[in-house]
Amino acid sequence: MRKKISIVGGGGNVGATCGHWMASKELGDIVLIDVIPGLPQGKGLDLLEAMPIEKRDSFVLGTEDYKDTANSDIVVITAGIARKPGMSRDDLLNTNYKIMQDVVSKVITHSPNCILIIVSNPLDAMAQTAYKLSGFSRNRVIGMAGVLDSARFRAFIAMELGVSVENVTAFVLGGHGDTMVPLPRYSTVAGVPITELMEKSTIERLVQRTRDGGAEIVKYLKTGSAYYAPSAAVTEMVEAIIKDKKKILPCAAYLEGEYGIQGLFVGVPCKLGARGIEDVWEIRLTDEEMAALKKSADSVKELVSVVGV
Ligand SMILES: NC(=O)c1ccc[n+]([C@@H]2O[C@H](COP(=O)([O-])OP(=O)(O)OC[C@H]3O[C@@H](n4cnc5c(N)ncnc54)[C@H](O)[C@@H]3O)[C@@H](O)[C@H]2O)c1
Repeated sequence: MRKKISIVGGGGNVGATCGHWMASKELGDIVLIDVIPGLPQGKGLDLLEAMPIEKRDSFVLGTEDYKDTANSDIVVITAGIARKPGMSRDDLLNTNYKIMQDVVSKVITHSPNCILIIVSNPLDAMAQTAYKLSGFSRNRVIGMAGVLDSARFRAFIAMELGVSVENVTAFVLGGHGDTMVPLPRYSTVAGVPITELMEKSTIERLVQRTRDGGAEIVKYLKTGSAYYAPSAAVTEMVEAIIKDKKKILPCAAYLEGEYGIQGLFVGVPCKLGARGIEDVWEIRLTDEEMAALKKSADSVKELVSVVGV
């Protein structure tokens, strides 16, 4: 049986582009669901018609009806508003919380055994909302942020050093926002830590650009936020689960004491496989890095207390 992946908000920029990457990698059959009449149907059909050219047997369906999402293996939630210039991710909280409430109950009614990947912002608070409302076990609710943030860091490192992106690994922990915690010590080029390859001031500049990575794109686009890299990041997570790759990726996970954090979604290294989050890696952090992670967790705590989840 082919796997079934539904994308809620699938008519939007991140959702539809997720469908594009996933179908072109033949990860499974794709359902794009949205509330704007005709939008998911139009984009779904358009994508389906690309499959003969791509030589991929992914079936793509666009719909407004949750019945079409029934028994999905994975449901990606990108539904919600995106930020505009001058807005922070946190400004989206109340609107996207209401949307998340509406969406999660419908998703779990039709796909009670799925794995949820949350993308809507503010990411960590929305993942916490989905976790609490779904009642799913913590391995089945995963937030996407760290794969994107570390991809941005990797791209900047590769550009700075003039090397292949394939040589660059990077780790970014913490919340998806101003408090994200890029870890230069664990970021490497062909196995060599970047702390051996670049001046401290250069690393700090790249770290700052990574923190501001989302805002940099919003400033250019003016009417929306980034979607190519975010959807590629979601696709890497979906692929790791569908192919049971046991891949270590930075994801927002519900922590139960790891890193001294209790009952909050925070970005940490996770092992992704067929059961979703199969392990949370507790890597050794310096006091400074630990303090930055705690600060990040505190800002998630503040947000989730506003919506009471
Ligand atoms: N986690 C990350 O790293 C990351 C990266 C990029 C974007 N995002 C977030 O993802 C979300 C989507 O961004 P986008 O650029 O695709 O926005 P978009 O406006 O292009 O798409 C959002 C879609 O959600 C749909 N929608 C709204 N309410 C819905 C509901 N109740 N049910 C189903 N669909 C509904 C809209 O109709 C729209 O098509 C935003 O909240 C954005 O901030 C997160």
